[in-house]
Amino acid sequence: MFFHPRMKLLDKIGREFSGYNILESGKRLVDRKPLQCSLYVTDRCNLDCAYCTEYDNSQPHPSLDDLKKWIRKIRELGTMRIALVGGEPLVHPNIVELVRYCRELGFATSLTTNGFLLTRKLLAELEDAGLQVMQISVDRMTPSPITKKSFKTILPKLDYFRDSKISLHITGVICADTLPESRAVLETGLSRGIPTEVRLVHADPLRRFRVDRGPREELERFIDSMIERKRRGEKIHTSEAILNYQRSLLRGERVEWTCMAGYKLFFVSAQGKFWICSMVHTDKHIMDVTLDDLYANYRKKSCQEGCGVYCAVSASLLVEKPIAVLGKEIVARTKRIPSMFRRSLTPDADKATHSAITNPDGTQEMNGGTNGGPSADDRVTLRKSV
Ligand SMILES: C[S@@+](CC[C@H](N)C(=O)[O-])C[C@H]1O[C@@H](n2cnc3c(N)ncnc32)[C@H](O)[C@@H]1O
Ligand code: SF4
Ligand code: SF4
Repeated sequence: MFFHPRMKLLDKIGREFSGYNILESGKRLVDRKPLQCSLYVTDRCNLDCAYCTEYDNSQPHPSLDDLKKWIRKIRELGTMRIALVGGEPLVHPNIVELVRYCRELGFATSLTTNGFLLTRKLLAELEDAGLQVMQISVDRMTPSPITKKSFKTILPKLDYFRDSKISLHITGVICADTLPESRAVLETGLSRGIPTEVRLVHADPLRRFRVDRGPREELERFIDSMIERKRRGEKIHTSEAILNYQRSLLRGERVEWTCMAGYKLFFVSAQGKFWICSMVHTDKHIMDVTLDDLYANYRKKSCQEGCGVYCAVSASLLVEKPIAVLGKEIVARTKRIPSMFRRSLTPDADKATHSAITNPDGTQEMNGGTNGGPSADDRVTLRKSV
């Protein structure tokens, strides 16, 4: 199909903003229903990142029937967005059918993966099933004993997304092992036009760090540089609020916020248990959870200080301060417009920086938190109202 260059430019600008989906998400800012759920479709994983406590290969996959039952229940609670996480979601034999089912029920659907099992064919199947957002986790340029998630494996796969409708973003973990390469990870993603984020490693449920976090001052300088780049309008895939939050964590500063985990966002384990977040678990089964149970979690939590569940912090800040969080994001995105004009005048420059992978719809990113769940600057088009 032929597109006039001016139409293409207008289309791009529209995409930068249309997905805020304020009306849809806005409903969840004022009612008592949940915005998002992260569902562990399996505990099993094909990797063994040293910082991670979210996989367990002694567990079998949950059955498709059980998962569908839980997904229906999550939807009945009014949840709008579902993030399929794990373990490694792509090791579940029914992952494509699960995505299709989530979409049939009207969920905005994302999937977080280490990408190792991703093939062109599987991506096409996931797209056909209706997957809107994929987060691929990339920590380094080359593998290390701490994490094998590197661009060495993922770079060759980026080409699969060239004509895909699935919106890709990249997320990396920063710790002492990855820090020397974190800048390169960020540059590699951004230079290909992929929304990219690298974020500080968090502690385990017992508040212990599994790996060395890295030198504080260097980490702080790196976060500062990301804040600056975010303000300039670069596609750093997180809100300025979360970058500021991470800087406060490093400085040991107190941050005033109310954790909405267990209420506006919650997790469901691969055994169907209702979890407040990835770090705080309950024994209650999701099938027994009511809206009143969720609302009871609308309170400050004793574990808030130092919390590294960024998706929860992000959703909480959005619900608490929507104008401040979204306002900054809109300003940052507005700054991208002049460079779009420049690129539309010099199409070859556009090719050089952006066509290695074109994020097919910048408006459909489900911004990853720790578990790839949608977060503060999220923009997903929903098919059906809840
Ligand atoms: C638990 S993994 C599950 C999905 C998939 N296996 C993957 O690695 O993308 C979800 C995300 O949590 C991140 N993660 C795991 N442990 C972490 C930690 N201690 N600190 C920060 N991020 C962590 C992973 O890097 C990944 O981006
Ligand atoms: S972070 Fe993801 S890939 Fe790494 S061990 Fe955990 S679940 Fe597996
Ligand atoms: S403060 Fe953090 S760790 Fe505690 S419940 Fe909220 S998200 Fe989970």
